Amino acid sequence: MADTLILYYSCQGHTERVAQLLHKLVGGDLLAVHLKEEYTPLAAYTKGLYHIKKGLCPPLQQDVDISGYDTVYLGSPVWYWTLTPPIAWLLKEKDWQGKTICPFTTNGKRNGDCFEKTARLARGAKVEEGCAISMVKQKADSIILYELKRWLASLN
Ligand SMILES: Cc1cc2nc3c(=O)[nH]c(=O)nc-3n(C[C@H](O)[C@H](O)[C@H](O)COP(=O)(O)O)c2cc1C
Repeated sequence: MADTLILYYSCQGHTERVAQLLHKLVGGDLLAVHLKEEYTPLAAYTKGLYHIKKGLCPPLQQDVDISGYDTVYLGSPVWYWTLTPPIAWLLKEKDWQGKTICPFTTNGKRNGDCFEKTARLARGAKVEEGCAISMVKQKADSIILYELKRWLASLN
């Protein structure tokens, strides 16, 4: 098992694309979080908002085991200026003690409280500065790689 994990949730593929590009740069294991019943893009706006407001998360398709990793690159789309329910849930429920989290998001324009919330929820973890990538759909891979490299170079 590698000591680095790239763990992400993606509803419409943009965060997945960024996670795959990040994987080219840092290696390690790459794992997508799936729900038993995935949000459709429409349900993201309705059920998703309800779940965010109530702090709920629909059941995951698989258990996510982070125990063997020292560093977790954790990716979420931004929904309603905050983290998506699956990523917020993983931050609340998993044992992050002693791990380093490098959070990244994709968004339309506004990242909201995603990185502050990551630091608040991940008890015991060291949370590095986050990387927010906007308008992924309109960007070539080379631009996204440039943004990721700049971020990675800034990390401790
Ligand atoms: C329900 C919903 C809420 C969103 N809220 C925001 C937001 O608050 N700020 C923002 O900049 N983008 C917002 N977006 C845009 C997404 O963050 C953006 O398209 C993201 O790259 C989608 O990632 P994905 O393709 O991995 O699901 C929202 C999208 C959805 C579906």
